[in-house]
Amino acid sequence: MSLPIFNFTKIESTNDFARSLITEHKIFKGIIIADEQTKGRGRYGNQWSSPIGNLYFTIFFPILRTNLKKIQFLVQLQIRNILKSYKIKNITLKWPNDLYINKKKVCGILQESIVSGRFFLIVGIGINVKSSPKIKKYPTTYLNKETKKKINLNELVEKLKKAFVSNVIDKKYSLKKIAKDWNKYAFNKNKFINFKINNKIYKGIFKGINNNGALILEHNNHKDYFTHGSLV
Ligand code: BTN
Repeated sequence: MSLPIFNFTKIESTNDFARSLITEHKIFKGIIIADEQTKGRGRYGNQWSSPIGNLYFTIFFPILRTNLKKIQFLVQLQIRNILKSYKIKNITLKWPNDLYINKKKVCGILQESIVSGRFFLIVGIGINVKSSPKIKKYPTTYLNKETKKKINLNELVEKLKKAFVSNVIDKKYSLKKIAKDWNKYAFNKNKFINFKINNKIYKGIFKGINNNGALILEHNNHKDYFTHGSLV
């Protein structure tokens, strides 16, 4: 499948550009890559530090609404495979959208959907390659540090493109199979966690995700299932 590719040396946010391509220019699938972002966005309205040297990649395409949840976990698994191809060990998947190496965040994913006639998914991926910001809430790392090599950004982009085209876009997904794989690599599985939703904190043991993609939290001798929220 051929996807139009938009390359920028500098852009505000590759995700915002995808949105304008869909809604204003009626371009319905493609990839946007930037060397640097001036208004990089993370989840929950956070800023995503975006200096030159790291990867800023957005892919967008039409999707069935029912496949949204599956893609979120599938994308994490695909990126994990790519990182593994650099012989990196201890890569875990943090619910709902991050990747960690040795318990330090290396990749964030901002998945957004919009309706413009059809339903579209915008997947923005930020991977720390050459540097990582100091963040108060969690430790961070970057690929060159973990591999002790200089990762080639173009090669990384090619691997991402290939993974999406071969294994994500237009594929039939079994959430049961994806959940099974995801649970193998879940960050903090079977550990005590604090889970925040609607400004309320739940404390309990994280048991992974169920076959519907909901987070399972075991507390007070029963299990609760959450589709939204964050680990704090
Ligand atoms: C997070 O962990 O909060 C998600 C971070 C997502 C960052 C990427 S970088 C490419 C794309 N463009 C953006 O503005 N954000 C995403």
